[in-house]
Amino acid sequence: MTVGVVVLSRLPGDAVERLRAEHEVRYRDEDSPVPVGDLPVLLSGAQAVVVTLGHRVDDAFLDAAGPGLQVVANVAVGYDNIDVDACRARGVVVTNTPGVLTDATADIAFALVLMATRRLGEAEREVRGGTGGGGWGMFHLLGTSVQGKAIGILGPGAIGLATARRARAFGMSVLLSGRSAPDPEAVAELDAEVVGFEELLERADVLSVHVPLSPATRHLVDAAALARMKPGSYLVNTARGPVVDEAALAAALGSGHLAGAGLDVFEDEPRVHPDLLGREDVVLLPHIGSATVETRTAMAGLAADNVLAVLAGREPLTPVR
Ligand code: DGY
Repeated sequence: MTVGVVVLSRLPGDAVERLRAEHEVRYRDEDSPVPVGDLPVLLSGAQAVVVTLGHRVDDAFLDAAGPGLQVVANVAVGYDNIDVDACRARGVVVTNTPGVLTDATADIAFALVLMATRRLGEAEREVRGGTGGGGWGMFHLLGTSVQGKAIGILGPGAIGLATARRARAFGMSVLLSGRSAPDPEAVAELDAEVVGFEELLERADVLSVHVPLSPATRHLVDAAALARMKPGSYLVNTARGPVVDEAALAAALGSGHLAGAGLDVFEDEPRVHPDLLGREDVVLLPHIGSATVETRTAMAGLAADNVLAVLAGREPLTPVR
């Protein structure tokens, strides 16, 4: 049987109703990723599939959907869960959700900068644990000020630049480094310096990771890169876990070379490297960069708009090229 649209996870807002207004929709109203064994039944005959990050779209997935599939709409800006070449080879359009989650993710990136530098996770745990030692103390839980320090943005795309804007507002200077040249207007607005990867590592007081995951960026921040970072500096990652070698990060923290880290993403999500779990100097968040009602609603809405456009024979709003 042909079904217009398969939505594999529960979505906020009116995205599903809008799809239903124009197409037959098979809606899996659940949060957990679909067990792989259930995919053939769920996907068979689909013309469009809406997926979230927990779903791996590969040849097996595409086989399960069959030859009628026209579009895979990812409800995320990152699309490392999708084999784009395999989709392209079958003429399947892939879309993502850039733009709508920029501010929410940059908010979390800068929140992690403050949490790591001011030791907020550790402080909160202390209060909850009843071991506060009487509260205020001259030498109690001293952190590092961000004012006058340099933030290094690795990957100056939309989210990286939005994080840099927040850093500027907190009195930080901005270093930018990435594969492609950042928007010159943004560079001027931020009074930023564009530098190479190694210089970024050597000069940043806080390194904030914003590159997408690809074979070229897997373990880009490895033991050698971490060793190049400024002694006493901090690492924040809100992009994808495998960009950072977590074992090497734990070692760099353990040796005291790095002062702290803030992570919203992990190499083997949702698992966290055991050497990081017990450390007071690491802030750990469960991949909540885009997790606001407004942002997730906008992401779902954009994914639906992409599906509606492709099935109507129009260009999608935000295709993955
Ligand atoms: C993304 O969109 O890629 C985030 O990691 C999840 O919202």
